[in-house]
Amino acid sequence: MVDFKEMSPEKIEIMTGDITRLNVEAIVNAANNALLGGGGVDGAIHRAAGPGLLEECRGIGGCPTGEARMTKGYHLPARYVIHTVGPLYQGGERGEPELLAACYRNCLILAEDNGIGSLAFPSIGAGVYGYPLVEAARIALQTAKDFPNCESILKRIVYCCFPPENTEVYRQVYSEIWSGVEGLKMKHLNLSVSGRVQGVFFRDTARREAEKLGINGFARNEPNGTVWIEAEGVEAKLDEFLQWCRRGPTWGKVENLVVTEGGLQGFPDFRVRF
Ligand code: APR
Repeated sequence: MVDFKEMSPEKIEIMTGDITRLNVEAIVNAANNALLGGGGVDGAIHRAAGPGLLEECRGIGGCPTGEARMTKGYHLPARYVIHTVGPLYQGGERGEPELLAACYRNCLILAEDNGIGSLAFPSIGAGVYGYPLVEAARIALQTAKDFPNCESILKRIVYCCFPPENTEVYRQVYSEIWSGVEGLKMKHLNLSVSGRVQGVFFRDTARREAEKLGINGFARNEPNGTVWIEAEGVEAKLDEFLQWCRRGPTWGKVENLVVTEGGLQGFPDFRVRF
């Protein structure tokens, strides 16, 4: 009798690093529908694999969002690349969670079907496509947990995160999912800043500060002359960000401060980048 068990936690590994350097049988690429390369992890994979990869991708003719396609790895240490296309995050109500889960599931299915023993994922959708990191990590890990483990071809699944703050988020989500530990102190901050803030300088420096701290969010000018900021990150880092907003030499004051548990209500224009 086939026993459909959940994926066991021993197979899961969470690490910080550059996925193009990993010694696994296959790495996953967070691609776009054309499969012809791009920025972020996609660009890094194409650069490291060399022109053969682009040539093979040309012959595939694209890939719909949520699906996956496999190619060889060319100059990469990994023998194969599984290309998948995450959803462009538009607030979470347009099927993004289902599409992101489909990406992970289809990669796992392709890996199993091709007898791949070790597979590494980047944080699909959580870069240029704007998927909030905690939710993206939950979907990444929950999909693996729910994946039937009856054949056990896949012995090792690596979540290769960059930068290190992302790894911490994955670790906490991992404990949440596998041990029911409620450890994740991810918070959501809304604040409005008044004073001399509507020039490019304030939003630019805020963006840089947020990126340094591993915080996602956006800042926008309001008609009343203030700048409205929404930010999402681990609690301690949000505190640091708030202190920074309060210290600013050129702006007036921070007000309408609300800290909640919810997600971002808009497309993040500052986020952690590689
Ligand atoms: N190794 C591991 N992780 C990386 C690397 C790398 N070499 N480079 C980037 N990352 C991380 C980013 O920090 C982010 O957390 O991968 C995650 C996914 O980010 P993106 O590469 O921007 O992918 P995604 O959000 O799915 O956007 C896809 O970006 O470049 C384009 O062609 C791609 O249009 C597609 C879009």
